[in-house]
Amino acid sequence: MESTDYSREDLRAIAAGVGDRDGWDFSRMKTEREPVPWDYLEVATRYITPKDAVLDIGTGGGEKLLTLARHFDTAVGVDPDPDMIRAARANGAAFPNVTFAEMGAEELGFPDGSFDVVLTRHAPVSVPEVVRVLRPGGYFVTQGVGANNMADIRQAFGTGSGTQYDDEHRSRMDEFARLECRTVATGDYNVRYWVKDVPSLIFWFKAIAGANEVPEGFSIDRDWRIVQRIIAEHGGPDGVLTNEHRTLLVVWKP
Ligand SMILES: C[S@@+](CC[C@H](N)C(=O)[O-])C[C@H]1O[C@@H](n2cnc3c(N)ncnc32)[C@H](O)[C@@H]1O
Repeated sequence: MESTDYSREDLRAIAAGVGDRDGWDFSRMKTEREPVPWDYLEVATRYITPKDAVLDIGTGGGEKLLTLARHFDTAVGVDPDPDMIRAARANGAAFPNVTFAEMGAEELGFPDGSFDVVLTRHAPVSVPEVVRVLRPGGYFVTQGVGANNMADIRQAFGTGSGTQYDDEHRSRMDEFARLECRTVATGDYNVRYWVKDVPSLIFWFKAIAGANEVPEGFSIDRDWRIVQRIIAEHGGPDGVLTNEHRTLLVVWKP
């Protein structure tokens, strides 16, 4: 990043130019992070076989699920947000083995034992529903956001700590154990993460507003001083420095 000196007008002009998120697509952001111990999609492929039926809960625009399409027989991506399902159907138009349905994690409209693998990445989970729709011998693979994610940015926005993420991760593990499922793998990483330029930073804040780290209704008109402070305090030659904290859980249903 060349400069850390941005006026309100500069930030307004950048915000007007970055556009809005479509589905759950962050590919336009320029970012870099330290090496991490796992790649979620690579982990998912270890548990998926070519004859499998897969369910992805909270699929967003189906972006991640669709990248796995050649590894399974069929898949359904569900999300309660009709805009997400619209985006997912458009993204998935060329994938005949993947369908999408408007549905929340709390009540999955599928018979017991319908899926070989259930996936969810950064989305809510109802453990009894996951266990119900998994066939015996099936796997559940999830990546979550960790409690310390984007710590400096949370502090700047005053959005508080992410302890609920920790609680969720722990309570999910306990609940699976109570339902006699076996934890196959767990993981946790917290690495440095750089957002390489200010358009990427502002796109990101707009795109995740309301999702814990960045307050609901984020706008440059309201929040420009905070954005200025984040850039001034955390910006440098490599971009704006924050951190990425993720958790991993893989469970097997006997
Ligand atoms: C952070 S996005 C993740 C999208 C996608 N899994 C990915 O990793 O790219 C969270 C998604 O969860 C969805 N969601 C919110 N509440 C949900 C619920 N109760 N059940 C299932 N999905 C939900 C949102 O609409 C959103 O698409």
